[in-house]
Amino acid sequence: MSVAQEIKARLDIVEYVQQYVPLKKSGRHYKACCPFHSEKTPSFIVNSETQSWRCFGACSEGGDIFNFAMKLHGWDFRQALEELGRLAGVEVRQQTPQQREQAQHEERLRDILRTAAEAFHSALLQDAPDSQAVLQYAVERRGFSLETIEKYQIGFAVESWDNLLIHLREIGYRDDDIVEAGLAIRNDKGRIYDRFRNRLIIPIRDERGRVVGFGARALGDEHPKYLNSPQTPVFDKSRLLFGLDMARESIRQSGMAIVVEGYMDVIQAHQAGYMNVVAQMGTALTEAQLKLIAPRHAQRIILALDADEAGQNAMRRSLEVARQVLQDDYAGQLSVDIRILQIPGAKDPDDFLRATPEQWPQLIEAALPIADFIINLETEKLPPDASIQERERAARAILPLLYASEDNLYRKANIQKLAMRLRIQEADLLAWAEEQRRIDAAKPPLANYEQPPSLDELPPPPLPLEEDDASEAITNAPPPQPRRRTGRWAAEMQCLRILLRNADLYYALNRTIRELANNDELLLKYAFSEFCEDDFIEPDYRQIMARFLQSLQQETLETQDFIVQAINPMLEPTFQELLQEEAVMVQNKAPRLAGEFEQIWGDFNRFSRRLVDPLAELTAQALQLRQSRIERELKELRWLLQDGNQTKQTGARHDIHEHIATLVRAKHLIDAAIAQHRNMI
Ligand code: UTP
Ligand code: MN
Repeated sequence: MSVAQEIKARLDIVEYVQQYVPLKKSGRHYKACCPFHSEKTPSFIVNSETQSWRCFGACSEGGDIFNFAMKLHGWDFRQALEELGRLAGVEVRQQTPQQREQAQHEERLRDILRTAAEAFHSALLQDAPDSQAVLQYAVERRGFSLETIEKYQIGFAVESWDNLLIHLREIGYRDDDIVEAGLAIRNDKGRIYDRFRNRLIIPIRDERGRVVGFGARALGDEHPKYLNSPQTPVFDKSRLLFGLDMARESIRQSGMAIVVEGYMDVIQAHQAGYMNVVAQMGTALTEAQLKLIAPRHAQRIILALDADEAGQNAMRRSLEVARQVLQDDYAGQLSVDIRILQIPGAKDPDDFLRATPEQWPQLIEAALPIADFIINLETEKLPPDASIQERERAARAILPLLYASEDNLYRKANIQKLAMRLRIQEADLLAWAEEQRRIDAAKPPLANYEQPPSLDELPPPPLPLEEDDASEAITNAPPPQPRRRTGRWAAEMQCLRILLRNADLYYALNRTIRELANNDELLLKYAFSEFCEDDFIEPDYRQIMARFLQSLQQETLETQDFIVQAINPMLEPTFQELLQEEAVMVQNKAPRLAGEFEQIWGDFNRFSRRLVDPLAELTAQALQLRQSRIERELKELRWLLQDGNQTKQTGARHDIHEHIATLVRAKHLIDAAIAQHRNMI
């Protein structure tokens, strides 16, 4: 029995779900309103016989206790295994020795960080010199209650080079680990000293509530205002939202998340009783951060960024991220209502909340839909007597944003609004929008990859309920939306198909990738690393790729056998689909009309080519995937670069420039390689 099966055997899905959703018995099953979308008639069903759940409403999704926990808490499978394993009392072993070691290492770093948080906290409350004054700062200047100070474990780093260091060493932690945890700095001469000195300490926790870093506020006007933990194996600022551990439950219940800029904004909101607030910690919202909350927990996101210029810039970049994510719509189901909150008269939410906490709900209520906000923002800059050319230019800049950010229903109203504001004919706007759409459609990220038509026709996953129940429930439900499957999706599938059959090709592929770098160290480091799960976007494929890589690290089992025994049972259908022969899939296709002969001939050629030279096919597809990954990374880096807060140090900016330049070089190299490859096939 696999670990996952053992956990499932020990836990009861009804009992588990019941903790979060008020289930009512209905016949042989349990019913409730779906926790994942808002509805009035219950269409969420839990079947205790098959230990499965399914929503027959808008989500039309279902699965076992793992899917439920993952979806509800936003965990990945690994986290679900650990958490449910703990509940079930099943020990979850790490898959490879390397992984186990890494996990232990990270655990140790978190231990150190937790110990440090405790030490900072007790320094503030008890014994440290100067702690009286700092406590006074926290209470009077920052407006923290004592309860808040305890709840967030606010602390104080005393004015000393080695106070914390000595404390941690006494407990037995090693210098290397203390440095790696970001608590101490090693200078050129090898001397080690405390990173945080004479500052108010705010512990930063991950979404599971574990301390992973600190934000340290200067007590006066010293620079920087906030000194933060550096990036460490357990802390990545761009993938974390401050306060999410406290906010998650409230975000889930309200279906809404409010994203603010800073630590103080979050703490102040929570203290005032508004718990669904998290912070992006001064940077623009990243895709990883957006995905922590949407659409799983929040269907509405309100960006409440500062009214100053930095805040406005962060807002634009956040919108751009949201737009990209919504446009790419990776999972085919990311539909989130994003609104913008502008705070009148106050610099930031912290100030507003301290002055007039009772007005917060009205403020939230008045948040502008993204389209209105964009129209206002862009048209306000135009002088009242702007020429028609200027107005057209503004319109062309706004249109793509409007088009990508909302569904059809709103679009028409937005176009009307824009037409009025810019005094441009609606028909012209629509024509420009159409023009833009055609340009965009002509250059999707993987334009050259037509997908094999059979992919859309794969059978839907089996329903977990008996037929009678299912048909009863289905009559009220809209038909499930087919997932959009793009060229990128097909390329991911194809890579896995080939690797699973010929694991050895993996090494040949990496050699080809490495050779592109031509021994250039920067290219090797930033762009031409080994092909891995990060080249994939589909969550299922990412996991299968990760398992594939693990399978290469062991010698006991054949690739496919190893994966079968290690895989999350939920992924098994996807995995089996990858193992199916393509020829069979072609035959299974619905009969075609004779007029489509050419297309069939094209398919046939593609398939036979794949059979003839899987390495060439793998290389071509993998390079496309690497190309899109590089494009994704470039986007993120460019945002980072624009972001004043994070990259004030010239060193960091220089690194990013270098990183970007390298990726751009890599892109050209891959383009050339792909072209060459295509000629070869
Ligand atoms: P702000 O400059 O708006 O700070 O930065 P704030 O939250 O209003 O702080 P107070 O009220 O002046 O104390 C917002 C966020 O940007 C990050 C922090 O996460 C901060 O909460 N930041 C800001 C830094 O990381 N470093 C800085 O030097 C400044
Ligand atoms: Mn502030």
